[in-house]
Amino acid sequence: MKIAVVGATGLVGGLMLKVLEERGFAQEEILVAASEKSIGKKIKFSNRELTVQSVEDVINQECDYAIFSAGGQTSKKYAPLFAQKGTIVIDNSSAWRMQEDIPLVVPEINASAIKNGDKIIANPNCSTIQMVLALSSLQKNYGIKRIVVSTYQSVTGTGVKAVKQLDCEKENKECERAYPYQIFENILPHGGDFLSNGYTTEEEKLINETRKIFSDSSIAITATVARVPVKGGHSEAVNVELRKPFDLNDVYKLLESTKGVVVLDKPSENLYPMPINAEGKDEVFVGRIRKDESIENGLNLWIVADNLRKGAATNAVQILEYLTSK
Ligand code: A2P
Repeated sequence: MKIAVVGATGLVGGLMLKVLEERGFAQEEILVAASEKSIGKKIKFSNRELTVQSVEDVINQECDYAIFSAGGQTSKKYAPLFAQKGTIVIDNSSAWRMQEDIPLVVPEINASAIKNGDKIIANPNCSTIQMVLALSSLQKNYGIKRIVVSTYQSVTGTGVKAVKQLDCEKENKECERAYPYQIFENILPHGGDFLSNGYTTEEEKLINETRKIFSDSSIAITATVARVPVKGGHSEAVNVELRKPFDLNDVYKLLESTKGVVVLDKPSENLYPMPINAEGKDEVFVGRIRKDESIENGLNLWIVADNLRKGAATNAVQILEYLTSK
């Protein structure tokens, strides 16, 4: 099998290579592409060295699969060219996610959305993946009427430049900024770009992608995204209004039996999910599970995951696993 990783020199692209290695793809032929400035660079993969090539060169080598994490513009331009050569593209950018004929997939929830002949498959936004995976069994069993989500997002979601900004500010130096303000010892109520309705693009993604993955446009959703000076993962305070009454013990059981979800919820022992513990793990962690006593059928959850893993690289490789196992 020939697999290309486009954006292999980036934060997510690098982790995609690691996850490919971890999940049994080490023996496959792996091709790596990045921007012009990285051509010729060497990247370690398993027990060998890969040389970064131009995207055009990799397209011409007619790979079976290409996993993209190189930004929306690169995906828009090159994914169709890969597809023309018969390569199936798994794309981590927001370029194709909301296009009607493109499946948007979290394999544990809706792998069946992938149809024979699909050439581009979209990987959802990191904040969406962890939320929908944690909510999937509740949606199936009770139906979800409304979601109110507030996120506390890691700087790793913005990329290398943002991680450098945080590290640099910690040392109290003059720093190049990925954000409009200092992020160290600060919180920015701002993820992505502002839209004319006052929401941000990151908030819009959470709303639209959740409805698409659950195939339920009737779910009311509102979101506030904040960037926090954290590296290990994204945290989310999620308030859900279910369509039917529920028993809290059943909710625990449903969450515990959801593949890819780990319940960490023992308040008496101060046990709850935190990004410091989620870092490097593939699971989505859920805690602080409690009834919202202010409304009927309301539930509060605290959801944490490593945004670079399940939120990006791992989910993309799981889509690849699904495709190769068909
Ligand atoms: P490069 O390192 O050569 O700039 P991150 O989001 O962590 O910054 O990573 C972005 C990834 O996308 C990097 O691997 C980057 O390569 C790659 N990339 C950016 N622009 C392009 C482009 N026009 N063509 C191919 N790869 C690109």
